[in-house]
Amino acid sequence: MLAIRHATTEDLAAITEIYNDAIVKTVATFDTVPKTPEEQTMWFTDHGPEYPILVAEDKGLVVGWASLSKWSDRCGYSDTAEISLYVDEKHQGKGIGRKLLDAVVQKGQKVGLHTVIARIAEGSEASIHLHKSVGFEHIGSMKEVGRKFGKLLDVHLLQKIYDT
Ligand SMILES: CC(C)(COP(=O)(O)OP(=O)(O)OC[C@H]1O[C@@H](n2cnc3c(N)ncnc32)[C@H](O)[C@@H]1OP(=O)(O)O)[C@@H](O)C(=O)NCCC(=O)NCCS
Repeated sequence: MLAIRHATTEDLAAITEIYNDAIVKTVATFDTVPKTPEEQTMWFTDHGPEYPILVAEDKGLVVGWASLSKWSDRCGYSDTAEISLYVDEKHQGKGIGRKLLDAVVQKGQKVGLHTVIARIAEGSEASIHLHKSVGFEHIGSMKEVGRKFGKLLDVHLLQKIYDT
């Protein structure tokens, strides 16, 4: 039975493992060097109650995570967040990403955000499909802004504005 819940520091090792796997194998993130436990602790601490981190837990195992992070340190952007969504490769295609995305988008509204941005690299069709299905709209593309595995890549910007 899958449970979606707030992450705790005890989940950090599993969250990091899933993220580091995506760093070395995918273009979902333009990080290229795996994160250290210290960096991840800082990342976790930076997310106060207004910027949630959720995990999906299946039979005691963390199999995915989603977060809303500050879009910018400039105060005027404080009602805007950026979404991250990662499911363990072995558990993809079973509806976990959708459940995490639904939950984190709902959480964003609950904590009073106005809008959420997703930056999605070209070729990430499942991610684009999922975001559009929960109300994100394509608002533009940044051409050749990322380079990974020796290739220049476009990044699509998707946005959801909450109903007020
Ligand atoms: C994107 C990701 C989070 C999806 O997680 P998941 O658990 O596999 O997703 P789900 O099983 O809930 O749903 C996948 C959806 O994408 C659809 N899909 C899969 N491949 C697709 C493709 N090539 N084109 C379009 N849609 C596709 C599925 O049909 C499903 O949609 P549906 O629920 O309407 O049938 C996961 O693949 C992942 O972690 N990828 C690497 C990291 C990443 O890209 N993160 C997003 C960065 S913002």
